[in-house]
Amino acid sequence: MTGKSANMALGDKHVDLPVKSGSIGPDVIDIGSLYKQTGAFTYDPGFTSTASCESKITYIDGDAGILLHRGYPIEQLAEHGDFLETCYLLLYGELPTAAQKKDFDYRVTHHTMVHEQMSRFFTGFRRDAHPMAVMCGCVGALSAFYHDSTDITDPHQRMVASLRMIAKMPTLAAMAYKYHIGQPFVYPQNNLDYASNFLRMCFAVPCEEYVVNPVLSRAMDRIFILHADHEQNASTSTVRLAGSSGANPFACIAAGIACLWGPAHGGANEAALNMLTEIGSVDCIPEYIARAKDKSDPFRLMGFGHRVYKNYDPRAKIMQKTTHEVLGELGHKDDPLLQVAMELERIALTDEYFIEKKLYPNIDFYSGITLKAMGFPTTMFTVLFALARTVGWIAQWAEMIEDPEQRIGRPRQLYTGEPQRDYVPVSKR
Ligand code: SDX
Repeated sequence: MTGKSANMALGDKHVDLPVKSGSIGPDVIDIGSLYKQTGAFTYDPGFTSTASCESKITYIDGDAGILLHRGYPIEQLAEHGDFLETCYLLLYGELPTAAQKKDFDYRVTHHTMVHEQMSRFFTGFRRDAHPMAVMCGCVGALSAFYHDSTDITDPHQRMVASLRMIAKMPTLAAMAYKYHIGQPFVYPQNNLDYASNFLRMCFAVPCEEYVVNPVLSRAMDRIFILHADHEQNASTSTVRLAGSSGANPFACIAAGIACLWGPAHGGANEAALNMLTEIGSVDCIPEYIARAKDKSDPFRLMGFGHRVYKNYDPRAKIMQKTTHEVLGELGHKDDPLLQVAMELERIALTDEYFIEKKLYPNIDFYSGITLKAMGFPTTMFTVLFALARTVGWIAQWAEMIEDPEQRIGRPRQLYTGEPQRDYVPVSKR
């Protein structure tokens, strides 16, 4: 508590609401007693001014373009660390020692296989099913296999479920991809690092040796780091809300995957690439910029704008650098999509509309181009986002479970429907 309070008058009622301060960032007004004292609710449908919880995991300053995980800037984590180190940091709050990192890597690596019967779930889907539909189904189904780690009141079971989720998402994602393209599943290899193992499970075929390209595996690992967690975004809030009812972690992560799928959220990387493909050439950009400004046209520039970042998304800058590295390594640096993307970014960053509305490229703007160059179909982009975000969902879920203040999430509403009325028999309607 800060000792400060927010004073509010509602009709003849006057309330003093306590104000809480965090270590950094905006204060919050604790409105928990508001309804009891005034009979009124607050109203904030998009939660633009609402803090849903207290958290120590990730901090975003949207105006300054700052993203910290447990206090460490995303730029430094992406530059100096690897994804499993970021996973350890998000889960336990500190960077691991060399021994802790070795042990964590070993434990994750030795949970990468899924129950052999899981493969039967895939055959129930049509081959052309969207891989995100497959992931929603298969991740939720994990709770049918791991009854020994669904008791959320047991810290050991929570830890085992967390490791299982982080370890098995790449295997399931690769299986969804292989099923989608009609190739056999490839088992994980314990002698490979996390990103290399995933690339091999996606792109190896039984007929020949697969050699991991170190530039691509480093880029893949960095893309995972950039997508690991992002405060109380829509899918993380979904996971927290599902978890607040006591649902098992596998079901909660499946709910997060479903929410992430939307084009306004994690589906934006797929939508952004489809948009760049539709634009096709630099000459057509002005037409699409005009459409994005036209209120009567639902078209939006996918990969631009953000609820929190009103400055450049710090992840987008790192993503742009990774894009150039990957396209350079693969000999695609003249990729027409990249040319369209660079020119679209240049125009958007100088256009009055985008400047006034503070619409900057977000992480999804560049990730799609990179993933396409690496050989992933657009339908797999959000699956990769979900793979990486699983650690963030799990860390936030665990923090919520361990929060003594946590209760089942149950918002109220502003009712604008019919007042009470009596039933009318059909003969009189
Ligand atoms: C992610 O929350 C997170 O942290 C998400 C994420 C994460 O890591 O979890 O960062 C990942 O989801 C990134 C965002 C990916 N989505 C897209 O790229 C889709 C395109 N972007 C928009 O749909 C939009 O910008 C949102 C959804 C991202 C943010 O929407 P807001 O905060 O609700 O903003 P808004 O829709 O109210 O827009 C504000 C104004 C509006 O104009 P006015 O009504 O004020 O006149 O800006 C305009 C919008 O019309 N606008 C755009 C635009 N985004 C907003 N105009 C053109 N193109 C756009 N992309």
